[in-house]
Amino acid sequence: MDQPRVLDPEPVVRLADHVAAGGGRGLDAAKRLGPIGVIDDVQASGLRGRGGAGFTTGLKWRTVAESLSASVPPTVVVNAAEGEPGTFKDRAILRANPYRMLEGALIAASAVGADRVVVALKATFRTEVARVREAIEEVQGRGWGDGVELSVVEGPSHYLYGEETALLEVIAGRQPFPRIAPPFRHGVDEVGADTVSAAQVTMAGPANPSPAPPTLVNNVETLANVGAIVAEGPDWFRSVGTPESPGTIVCTITGRTRRHGVGEFPMGTPLRQVIEALGGGPRPGRRIVAVLSGVANPLLPESRLDTPLTYEAMEAAGAGLGSAGFIVYDDATDLVAVAAGVSRFLAVESCGQCTPCKQDGRALAERLDLLRQSAGDEHDLDVLRDKLETVADSARCYLATQHQRVVESVLALFPDQVRAHAEASAPPADVELVTAIVDLERERAVLDETHLGKQPDWSFDDTDSGQAPADRIDQRRPDPV
Ligand SMILES: Cc1cc2nc3c(=O)[nH]c(=O)nc-3n(C[C@H](O)[C@H](O)[C@H](O)COP(=O)(O)O)c2cc1C
Ligand code: SF4
Repeated sequence: MDQPRVLDPEPVVRLADHVAAGGGRGLDAAKRLGPIGVIDDVQASGLRGRGGAGFTTGLKWRTVAESLSASVPPTVVVNAAEGEPGTFKDRAILRANPYRMLEGALIAASAVGADRVVVALKATFRTEVARVREAIEEVQGRGWGDGVELSVVEGPSHYLYGEETALLEVIAGRQPFPRIAPPFRHGVDEVGADTVSAAQVTMAGPANPSPAPPTLVNNVETLANVGAIVAEGPDWFRSVGTPESPGTIVCTITGRTRRHGVGEFPMGTPLRQVIEALGGGPRPGRRIVAVLSGVANPLLPESRLDTPLTYEAMEAAGAGLGSAGFIVYDDATDLVAVAAGVSRFLAVESCGQCTPCKQDGRALAERLDLLRQSAGDEHDLDVLRDKLETVADSARCYLATQHQRVVESVLALFPDQVRAHAEASAPPADVELVTAIVDLERERAVLDETHLGKQPDWSFDDTDSGQAPADRIDQRRPDPV
């Protein structure tokens, strides 16, 4: 990799500077290529979504372009809600250069015939919201929009806001409660429908014709890649990375390392190398024992630390690439406390539309917390195993499966630590805070400590009401907290 592709080493503060460095050539090329040519190139590049699932971007664009409404143009939504614990890459990209993302989003809009682009950020991302708003003004002033309306939506802090159907719910003025399953949904315009809840928003697709247009949702980093792909061509994009995971990946390293950081690497770089480069390796006198890729994938043990960072290799290693936000744990870490921390985060953030996700999720968090304090016993382990079997039953979104996969991996990889807590032969462990990153200052991640006061009903009251957020909160009420 000659130079970074999406994460500029120094902030690009004016659109003119971006253009002087070659920015805007993607938009010019998109005009020459036309919508089908752009989609062909993006698909040929092999770019995969950087929001976590790794879905092929060109295929997603083609599906949207083939499923348009006869009466209303589609919308492009930029997922800039970044809430995965351990991840700070989208905010790093937006701070360094928001024009790349905007250029990519406008190319996407031209490819699918969208007449508006919505950038969905959290209201608490003050720096990035201001930066994106300024950049939108500049881009419009330069005529890049070309009839496409660009706007910003400031949403709530809940983890689920980043889940793409929940994101659409927030844009539509409701709570971040996920809708029912892929491949893609009707979007922001609900033509002919008097929709009041996520449950009523229907699936889009050729088998379900409707006057409502589809919506294209892509992550910030995904879109930041697009301008150069269209300008330089798919072969250029494929000149780094692997055949199945081409290009670069922007990684975040936090946890028990000498320092924390964000950086861009060719896909296929071994994880250990990234931990060394960004984190400076383990703390003095310590050795790494495991790494979490956000809270979406099983724990990766030290023996797999040389796994190349590609979707296929990380999956084969039993974990997953996710959004490449890696939380590193060393031999001084209590892994039962880590499991309890992840479990608490996911149990609290569950919206409760699916009863097992909320109820079994809460039971998992409670039992793991007892074990962490060495106040549990064999029975708690039995309950854990039972609830792990049911927590993801009938789940509407992936959060419940995440809960299942992460906790199962700790039980499987560190049975001795789990048993020692169950037998109270291990000392009680401190709480391990697993939550979103608020900022990255002087090579240290600042974690959202307020999450410790958040109740499973999503209030910050002294006690939890016992009600699920989906039962307690009016879905129609937007709630930008
Ligand atoms: C619980 C949950 C939280 C998510 N949070 C984010 C997020 O903060 N940012 C993001 O880009 N994608 C997030 N995703 C993934 C999105 O649902 C979706 O896959 C992504 O926006 C698609 O864009 P891409 O194809 O460009 O990756 C989340 C998914 C789940 C299940
Ligand atoms: S799986 Fe959990 S987080 Fe997802 S919609 Fe159901 S209850 Fe909500």
